[in-house]
Parts: sequence; C-alpha cells; structure tokens
Amino acid sequence: MRELRTNLVYMDVDNPPRIIVVTSPLPGDGKSTISSNLAVTLASSGQPVVLIDGDLRRPMIGTVFGLPKGAGISDVLAGCATIAEVAQRFGNGQLLVVAAGKVPPNPSEVLGSARMRELLKSIAREAIVIVDAPPLVPVTDAAVLAHSADGAIIVGTVGKTTYEVLGKAIGNLERAGARALGLVLNKVPRRGSGAAYYGYQYHGDYYRNDGQELPTGTVRGDNANIYAKSK
Ligand SMILES: Nc1ncnc2c1ncn2[C@@H]1O[C@H](COP(=O)(O)OP(=O)(O)OP(=O)(O)O)[C@@H](O)[C@H]1O
Ligand SMILES: [Mg+2]
Repeated sequence: MRELRTNLVYMDVDNPPRIIVVTSPLPGDGKSTISSNLAVTLASSGQPVVLIDGDLRRPMIGTVFGLPKGAGISDVLAGCATIAEVAQRFGNGQLLVVAAGKVPPNPSEVLGSARMRELLKSIAREAIVIVDAPPLVPVTDAAVLAHSADGAIIVGTVGKTTYEVLGKAIGNLERAGARALGLVLNKVPRRGSGAAYYGYQYHGDYYRNDGQELPTGTVRGDNANIYAKSK
C-alpha cells in the first residue's frame, strides 16, 4: 500500500492525481479492500483524504469502517444532505469516510451527474478523493465516475483476471474518455502454484517456511525430478 501511495504521488509530479477511482473488470477483485487501505495509507502520511463509496450497487465502505447506517453520497446528490453532514472522521487522523447512502434506482445516472462531478472537484480542492466503484465490465458506473476523476486504478486478481477481460475493462474506460492510472495485481499468493507462476518458485524450492536454506540435494517438487534425472 505504501508503494502504491508512492507510485501515485510520483506518477505525474507536476499534476498528481487528486480524484482517484478504484475499479476492476469483474466483481470480487478487491476494489473495496484496496480503496479502503489506500485511503488509510494516504491519510497516515498526513494529507487529508476523503474516501467515498461510489458502489451504489454493492456498498461496502460503511461496513468496512463500521459506520452507523445512515445517509451517504447518494443523499448528497439527491439534495437531501450536505457532504459535511454525511462525512465521518475515521480515527483521529486525516481520513473522512462517506458511505453510499440510500441505493437509487439509477446508479449510473446519479454517479455520472454534473452534480457528482462538481462535488468531486470541490472536495479535491481540500483533499485527495478516493472513490470505491463497481466493476467496469458489467456496468458503466465506474467508467462515468472515472470520467469525472483524474483516472482509475484497475484492480486485477492473479489467476482470475484474463487479458481479454482486462482489455474490455480498459476499453470501457477509454470509451468514456477516462484514464487508466495503472493496474494493481491483487491476491498474489506468497507460496504455492500461483506463486510459482509469478517467479517465486526459487523461494519455494530452495527455502523452507522458516526461510532457512535446505541442505544440498534435498530440492523438492518438480525440480527434484529434473535434478535426479540430470544427475
Ligand atoms: N489481497 C487480498 N488478500 C486476501 N483477500 C483479499 C485481498 N483483497 C481482497 N480480498 C478478499 O476478497 C473478497 C472481495 O474483496 P472486496 O470486497 O474488496 O472486492 P470488490 O472488488 O470490492 O468486490 P465487489 O465487486 O463485490 O464490490 C473479500 O472477502 C476480501 O476480504
Ligand atoms: Mg466492493
């Protein structure tokens, strides 16, 4: 998360992104997890951060932060509340969290409204804005949100997100005139077959769980067979 924070700060030093949408191609890739942790990490470096639940279809941010159920961003957009009334301070630091609020029948329209764009802009004068969004392939919400933002971080899942579905997701962003800021590869296994795929087999083959080097000649797994044969 700290690395992601640093990358965001340095990706465009003259004009660092202030309004960042977190999305992914499909449900369950970790958008809410990444957006929440990124918001906490950014705030812990001392800058004001506002985290908004922009997923009006499957709102999660209120649950993640244990906020009491009540009004949220949709109520602000409907003109029933102000952002100051619905934003809740998390901890005693710089983070304000805005839940989704009442789920409207037309989330794409609400999120793509001029009112939402103006609201994001005005908050961004004071704080970095992180918006947790729905997935890009099934619905247009994230693309319209990203259009009103400085760009979107796309979260992908190791072993699940394909190049094809990622291409579709990026295509949907581009068609909405939005910018992809970068990709977060989530749920990378530390060990096991998935880990081997990402080049970690060196550790898997030569190190035990406690990190100690195995004695020569006790190489495990598939490599052990090759080792035996070549001998
Ligand atoms: N890096 C991770 N390591 C382990 N588990 C994770 C990780 N990231 C997310 N998860 C888990 O995966 C599940 C889905 O995560 P999350 O709710 O953040 O995804 P999402 O993309 O917001 O889903 P949705 O599309 O439903 O909004 C949750 O149970 C979460 O705890
Ligand atoms: Mg989510």
